[in-house]
Amino acid sequence: MSTNIHPTYDTLLQKKDKELLLNQRSKTLWLTGLSGSGKTTIARVLERKLHEKRFATTVLDGDNIRTGICNNLGFSIEDRTENIRRIAEVSKLFNQAGVICINSFVSPTKEIRNLAKEIIGEEEFIEVYINTPIEVCEQRDVKGLYKKARAGEIKNFTGIDSPFEAPEDAIEIKTDGLTPEESAKVLLDRVIGLVLVDYRFE
Ligand code: ADX
Repeated sequence: MSTNIHPTYDTLLQKKDKELLLNQRSKTLWLTGLSGSGKTTIARVLERKLHEKRFATTVLDGDNIRTGICNNLGFSIEDRTENIRRIAEVSKLFNQAGVICINSFVSPTKEIRNLAKEIIGEEEFIEVYINTPIEVCEQRDVKGLYKKARAGEIKNFTGIDSPFEAPEDAIEIKTDGLTPEESAKVLLDRVIGLVLVDYRFE
């Protein structure tokens, strides 16, 4: 625990001041799903669609974050938990600045996602399950990681020798048979009402 630290968040402008300026509600759209399920692609398309509608957004994703603030972390459950904790704290900062955060992380367990929800806040945290069957992810194998995991070259690979717990109460996007563009459109329709301010003009 931190000692001799005196946070001054109470004297800062509030989240609602930033939201008012940006004319939006700042939420964290938390996309969870298997590696190769399409999370990052959908996050990027969704961001472009929101941007075109003049929302201020940012995208955080596993492969980028893991080369930066989480570059000392691996894939044990402890490291994944720390990975998600840091990302949730970053998301909270973005939300406090009024920005919509679109996150794409495997975040494989309910406990890990609950941790993110606790940090970000129940109001702000919107869980989205990118549901793509593992057979489809494995067949695509865009990064060649499933092949390596099957060959035992990667340990603790989600869906192979490390668990993925599907969320129960999340917004669910079943991607099978849809293009990323179509999946992002379905997702946009589900979330637009959550980030829109009533008096917004298009
Ligand atoms: S999380 O479990 O901590 O949420 P995160 O989303 O940051 O994972 O990173 C997942 C990405 O790292 C995957 O898309 C994949 O490219 C890569 N990766 C490398 N090793 C593993 C592994 N053992 N399990 C899952 N993903 C892995």
